[in-house]
Amino acid sequence: MPTYTLLPGKIGSGGYSTVQRCTRDTDGAQFACKLLSKAHNKPGRIERELVAFRRASVSPHVAKLIDTTEDAHTHYLVQELCAGGTLHHAAVLLAPALHPCDERTAARVVRQVLLGLTDVQAAGVIHGDVKAANVLLTQRAPTAAALASDACGIKLCDFGASTLFDGVDADELVYVDELVGTPYFMAPEALAHNLTPKSDTWGVGCLCFQLLRRGRAPFEDADQPWQPRVRHIWQGVLHGEPAYRDEPGEPELSPAALDFMHLCLRKLAPARPSVRECLEHPWLRLDDDSPDAKSG
Ligand SMILES: Nc1ncnc2c1ncn2[C@@H]1O[C@H](COP(=O)(O)OP(=O)(O)OP(=O)(O)O)[C@@H](O)[C@H]1O
Ligand SMILES: [Mg+2]
Repeated sequence: MPTYTLLPGKIGSGGYSTVQRCTRDTDGAQFACKLLSKAHNKPGRIERELVAFRRASVSPHVAKLIDTTEDAHTHYLVQELCAGGTLHHAAVLLAPALHPCDERTAARVVRQVLLGLTDVQAAGVIHGDVKAANVLLTQRAPTAAALASDACGIKLCDFGASTLFDGVDADELVYVDELVGTPYFMAPEALAHNLTPKSDTWGVGCLCFQLLRRGRAPFEDADQPWQPRVRHIWQGVLHGEPAYRDEPGEPELSPAALDFMHLCLRKLAPARPSVRECLEHPWLRLDDDSPDAKSG
């Protein structure tokens, strides 16, 4: 197996991991390496992430797992480097300071994510944590035009909250012992320790909302946004309606975009479309210049 040299400095971090660049010693090629500390991650959890990541790496829409290695303290997951960082950074943090992500760009991005999830689920993996911070861009500092034109690759990462299933039935329910994922983006059934492939459809609805509503999550703690309480967020996830437009000056979303998010964010998982069915929605039609795809 080739050896790698870690480069100093983090390019990302999460709950129990850090991500650094590394180079392959044989040819100097650069990769991203996720370091998972054995002290902070249960062995079963790391094993599940590895299996899910390996299975998912068949998809061109996933930041491919290249190699894995470990020492006494750490697991190292060497993966394809996505030089553009996360969609959260590019489309949610930077662009919306000036104007929100436009619908055409958002629809192209969401389409790529759905293609990735379709492959991932066909390989028997429920991603379990779909959100803008887990979607990577291959092109450094992409313009909105590059994002909208598919010139910039869009790849899923982070299989740390993933669950394995048989890869066939979009309504299969899998019991999970441990609640993992991001409270803002967890589906109603996930709060009851049940995951289904359609939990990823919910995540796509959340991602779409993030893109079109200046990075906000569909369900937040309105009274304490700077110190959010998880039970208030989950109250909204279980019983609330997302605020699709409540700020003066916010551009109106098209009926097609609203319909897409409504379908993805249905409380009952079986009532949501599968990720494959989502691709058929008019809002995601490739010929986005057609009037019906724009206006619904
Ligand atoms: N292949 C990659 N190329 C470039 N950057 C990456 C890559 N993989 C991960 N990152 C960066 O590292 C961050 C953390 O990685 P990842 O999401 O896999 O870790 P995590 O600990 O599971 O995250 P969290 O718990 O916050 O969801 C990503 O949000 C991204 O900024
Ligand atoms: Mg992550």
